[in-house]
Amino acid sequence: MSEKAPVTPYDDADVSKKGQVTRMFDKIAPYYDNLNRVLSLGIDVLWRKKAISLLKKESPKTILDIATGTADLAIEAARVIRPDKIIGMDISPNMLKIGEEKIIKRGLSDVIKLELGDSENLSYDTNSFDAVMAAFGVRNFENLEKGLSEMYRVLRPGGTIMVLEFSKPRHFPLKQLFNVYFKYILPVIGKVRSKDEKAYKYLYESVQVFPDYEDFIGILHKLGFTQSNYKVLSAGICTIYLARK
Ligand SMILES: C[S@@+](CC[C@H](N)C(=O)[O-])C[C@H]1O[C@@H](n2cnc3c(N)ncnc32)[C@H](O)[C@@H]1O
Repeated sequence: MSEKAPVTPYDDADVSKKGQVTRMFDKIAPYYDNLNRVLSLGIDVLWRKKAISLLKKESPKTILDIATGTADLAIEAARVIRPDKIIGMDISPNMLKIGEEKIIKRGLSDVIKLELGDSENLSYDTNSFDAVMAAFGVRNFENLEKGLSEMYRVLRPGGTIMVLEFSKPRHFPLKQLFNVYFKYILPVIGKVRSKDEKAYKYLYESVQVFPDYEDFIGILHKLGFTQSNYKVLSAGICTIYLARK
């Protein structure tokens, strides 16, 4: 039986999802932060704040921010949790470049270090972080379970994983309204402002196939995580998942 092809940004069968995702984020990096604010009407900032406020209860001293991008989640964690160290890692050099500029501007270079890498093959030691987190990152993995199992590996026993990711609203009328916005309006604004024809169409498509709510929790448990729970934000547009190693 043939496997279903993964949802990718560009229809280029010769390039892996990882390669296409890297190319896409490298291309849209200069517009990424601004588009987040415009497309979410600024609510993405509140989603990250909520996610970090939940993680703060665990008082982690060392944090790995997977798929850190332009480092918004890492910066919020440094500000609110005040850990000893945050490593933000990402596969896109251009996203990291913008993140680095923001970290320097905010005087957070002593706390946050950004590193280029692939979250499906982490270079960090086993059991080495108190918390591992990702915002809007895991949906882009080529192999979701491989990426999540790497997050599990580098987390110390008893440590916490926090994943903030888009989910699909389930109830009328937001389900229908959001679908129209996400499928038809957002890709047009995204195309004009990011100068990439496909990036925001990929956003919609990747959310449609991504396992959310109990399905995502099921994958976490399969990989060994325990004590999981999730918090639905904005009537289901986004969800925060928390679990322990
Ligand atoms: C939607 S952005 C999220 C950035 C940031 N976490 C935020 O909250 O805005 C997704 C990020 O995932 C990164 N990414 C995708 N696949 C990756 C992988 N295999 N390893 C590391 N980073 C990856 C992309 O380069 C991109 O910066």
